[in-house]
Amino acid sequence: MKTYQQLFEIFSSHINAANYGSNPKELYEPIDYMMQLGGKRLRPILALMACDLFDSNIEKALHAAHAIEVFHNFTLVHDDIMDNAPLRRGKETVYKKWNMPIAILSGDLMMIKATELLCETETANLKSLLQIFNKTAIEVCEGQQIDMNFETQKSVSHDEYLEMIKLKTAVLLGCSLQIGALIGGASNDDAQHLYEFGKNIGIAFQIQDDILDTFGDGTITGKQVGGDIIANKKTLLLIELLESVHKDDKKLLDDLMQMTDAENKVQGVINLYDKYMIKQFAESKKQQYLDLAYQHLADVQVDEAKKTILTHTAEELMNRVS
Ligand code: IPE
Ligand code: IPE
Ligand code: MG
Ligand code: MG
Ligand code: MG
Repeated sequence: MKTYQQLFEIFSSHINAANYGSNPKELYEPIDYMMQLGGKRLRPILALMACDLFDSNIEKALHAAHAIEVFHNFTLVHDDIMDNAPLRRGKETVYKKWNMPIAILSGDLMMIKATELLCETETANLKSLLQIFNKTAIEVCEGQQIDMNFETQKSVSHDEYLEMIKLKTAVLLGCSLQIGALIGGASNDDAQHLYEFGKNIGIAFQIQDDILDTFGDGTITGKQVGGDIIANKKTLLLIELLESVHKDDKKLLDDLMQMTDAENKVQGVINLYDKYMIKQFAESKKQQYLDLAYQHLADVQVDEAKKTILTHTAEELMNRVS
């Protein structure tokens, strides 16, 4: 089994050789910009790891891994418009650097390129791969719209939140593992358990994303700190605070949520998060989903020793800082 770092290098050299096109440059430059900003490359690496569990010839999963990373980057280009985000991976977001129409169209093209790349996969089960991929892509759109709806929805339950993050984030991690496994020749059952493993890791991953948005170091996350608070995003942190806040602090929280002064708003909400120990609550939730993920990994019919790369990756993700 190859390590995360080895797979990262194999994948990076594969995508560094990619040519998405050049003319008109307004359409293609943002794609190169976004793809070269890097990031953790988590999803393609999960796809390669899953393939590696069943077949060490991981080269055959490279196009699919690439497709998934292009798709992920497409969602980020559009997500940053939707979230009004100025920074991504420490650099200006595409719609800020160029403009909104360019970010929309380049993003659209990335979505098309993703399916084009997936179709390059040499496999007998391409149709199933496309079906899994399309189903996931539809779910991501659903999750993203629900996330937006929540901004103005007064109360959101924990279950509604969990369903939303499952759709916007978790299913893509599951899909990456499932597709990688199927390319490696896994049985449908094993691929399905890996999907569930990835989905549960993905839920914990998004909870950590919510924690980092407020409590992370912006120079490491590469994102604006407090962006979720500014936008009144119904993150796990805010939902839990809204539920636990005493009536003496309720008015303060309501006022903070209406506040237009971003700096004071963010600090005011953080003070309440600290007072009600909201971060600790979120940390413990993450652990529950990690445990669920491991139950599915246990059911995958491969050597236990081969699975350690996946458990190791999952542990690292729980405490990630970027
Ligand atoms: C960011 O994903 C969007 C979420 C689903 C939270 P990543 O945290 O994987 O972003 P990069 O690709 O490493 O920048
Ligand atoms: C993003 O969730 C999920 C998708 C892009 C599909 P966030 O909006 O929390 O992601 P970041 O924090 O901007 O990376
Ligand atoms: Mg965002
Ligand atoms: Mg978002
Ligand atoms: Mg976020």
